[in-house]
Amino acid sequence: MVEHRIQLSGISKIFETKDVETHALKSIDLTIKDAEYISISGPSGCGKSTLLSILGLLDNPTSGEYLIDGQDVSQLSLTESARVRNEKIGFIFQSFNLIDELTVYDNIALPLSYNDNLELTAQQIKERVMGSLEKVEMAHRASHNPNKLSGGQQQRIAIARALVANPAILLIDEPTGNLDSKNGDLVMNLLSDLNQKGTTLCMVTHDPRYADRANRQLHLLDGELVQ
Ligand SMILES: Nc1ncnc2c1ncn2[C@@H]1O[C@H](COP(=O)(O)OP(=O)(O)O)[C@@H](O)[C@H]1O
Ligand SMILES: [Mg+2]
Repeated sequence: MVEHRIQLSGISKIFETKDVETHALKSIDLTIKDAEYISISGPSGCGKSTLLSILGLLDNPTSGEYLIDGQDVSQLSLTESARVRNEKIGFIFQSFNLIDELTVYDNIALPLSYNDNLELTAQQIKERVMGSLEKVEMAHRASHNPNKLSGGQQQRIAIARALVANPAILLIDEPTGNLDSKNGDLVMNLLSDLNQKGTTLCMVTHDPRYADRANRQLHLLDGELVQ
C-alpha cells in the first residue's frame, strides 16, 4: 500500500487577469498520508478552493510538483488528468451540483458512464449505484428527482455520487455550508465513517467544530500554509 497519497512541493498558483496578478497559492508544501483526514480553514479568498482544484486536477499549478501515489501529475495532458481523476478522486461541493432533470439514480450513475477504465455491465452499474445509495441511507429515493429532496438529503446524494467509483481520495469544499446543524452533523458523521473505512479526506471548512474532526488541521492565509 502507498503511504503518501498526496505530495505537494512548492506549489504556486498565479491568476493573471487584464491588469492584476493574483498569487492565490504561494509555494505550498503538503504531504497527505493514505487514510488521513485533513481540514483546511482560512478567511475568504485565501486560496482554499484553488488548492482543492489543483489537488483534484481541475486546474494546473503555475509552478511546483504534485505527486499522487508517487506519480507526477503536475504536467499531465487533459485526457491523462481526467483518467487519474476518474480513477482516484471524488468531489463534494457546498452547492450539491446535482442535475434536477435526472433521477437520483441517474445522477449517481453518470460519473461511471465517463469512466472508460471501468467497462461495467448494466448489472454492475446498478450494484454500484445502489451500493453507494445504501452507504448514505438514500436507496429508497433512487427514482426521485433531487429538487424534491431536502438539502441534507441532496448532500447525501452528492456524497453517494462521489463514492460510486470508489475513489481513494475525497476532496470536499464546505460540505455543510448550505445545511442546518442537524443535517450538517449527519453529513459530517458520514464523512468520518468513510475515513474510518480508509478513504483519504481533504476538507475545506469554516466551522471549527467540524475542522476538529480531522486528524490534522491546516490553516491558509493569503495563499500560504500557516501553523
Ligand atoms: N479563475 C480565477 N481567476 C482570477 N482570480 C481567481 C480565480 N480563482 C480564484 N481567484 C482569486 O484567487 C484568490 C483565492 O481564491 P479562492 O481559492 O477561491 O479562495 P477561497 O476558496 O479561500 O475563498 C482570490 O483572490 C480569488 O479572487
Ligand atoms: Mg472557496
